[in-house]
Amino acid sequence: MINEIKKLREEIDFHLKEIASADLFEQFKLSYLVKKGKIQELFDKMKTVTPDEKPLVGKELNLLRKFAEEEINKLKDKFAKPETHVPELDLTLPGRKSYHGSYHPVLQILDEMVEIFVLMGFSVAEGPDIEDGFHNFDALNFAADHPARDMQDTFFIKNGNNLLLRTHTSPVQIRVMKSQKPPIRCIMPGRVYRNEAINARSLAEFHQIEGLYIDKNVSFAQLKGTLMEFSRKMYGENSKFRFRPSYFPFTEPSAELDISCFLCGGKGCRICKHQGWLEIAGCGMVHPNVLHSGEINHEEYSGFAFGFGIERVALLRTGIEDIRLFYENDKRVLEQF
Ligand code: PHE
Repeated sequence: MINEIKKLREEIDFHLKEIASADLFEQFKLSYLVKKGKIQELFDKMKTVTPDEKPLVGKELNLLRKFAEEEINKLKDKFAKPETHVPELDLTLPGRKSYHGSYHPVLQILDEMVEIFVLMGFSVAEGPDIEDGFHNFDALNFAADHPARDMQDTFFIKNGNNLLLRTHTSPVQIRVMKSQKPPIRCIMPGRVYRNEAINARSLAEFHQIEGLYIDKNVSFAQLKGTLMEFSRKMYGENSKFRFRPSYFPFTEPSAELDISCFLCGGKGCRICKHQGWLEIAGCGMVHPNVLHSGEINHEEYSGFAFGFGIERVALLRTGIEDIRLFYENDKRVLEQF
């Protein structure tokens, strides 16, 4: 064994002198210094050595290994291949675009509407999406046989003991009247549901913003003034509006607020059903029966109420022609807002 170590030492000496290039340098390391190299081979053979020889053989082998390592280390600077440098910044890579999220356009419009009303002195209230027949219909003066109670318009909740998805935000009027004392100046934004065919103009699930003002001597002129002020702020001074007599069980008299069609400028087109006008809100003076349901004395107080469809307003503001686009989550649409 000692002889073999000597022979290997001579071989190593010889090869060390031969190292004249990076390749030979690598070659040397591979021959002698790796796990399967010749020095390790001898270490492996230690098993066959008798116990009294072992300490000496072990010592010689360790010396040999140390020697080879030290010698090769000395040559490192001259022959070792430079480690390939991996740049942290690869300037040839295409840039990484950063995407930033934003509020959904419908929510943006809703926030804007709320802000205008808040500046006018309204506060915000909310009610549940799942309502009962009393708040959604009875308290709002719907006759027992009113067609809007029909299954075609309302999503009733199965076995729900008179529960339904609210068809408008008007039931929140009742909740507000019951929980606050006049004067009341409240807006009530929220999601509403109707069992309706879905098309470019209407959805089965959409948003409304309800308004309620109750005080002594509230007049229709104040209702008109409030809605005109809001509409001008929302759509600009140049938009044209009109009030059209209408009917709601919970207001009397009732009206609808129309805005001149944004698409055709009033000439008549697909969006406005060739009318030149688009309906954006229902409104009217709160019916005495409704004040009564809300536990407010209708002889002392009067009030007005209104309800805007928010998606309608959003269509007008964004110029989007199909209401369904708001809820298809197509990034190409949403990214524009
Ligand atoms: N709730 C009515 C609707 O959904 C809108 C409305 C609200 C009308 C308040 C009058 C007063 O169409």
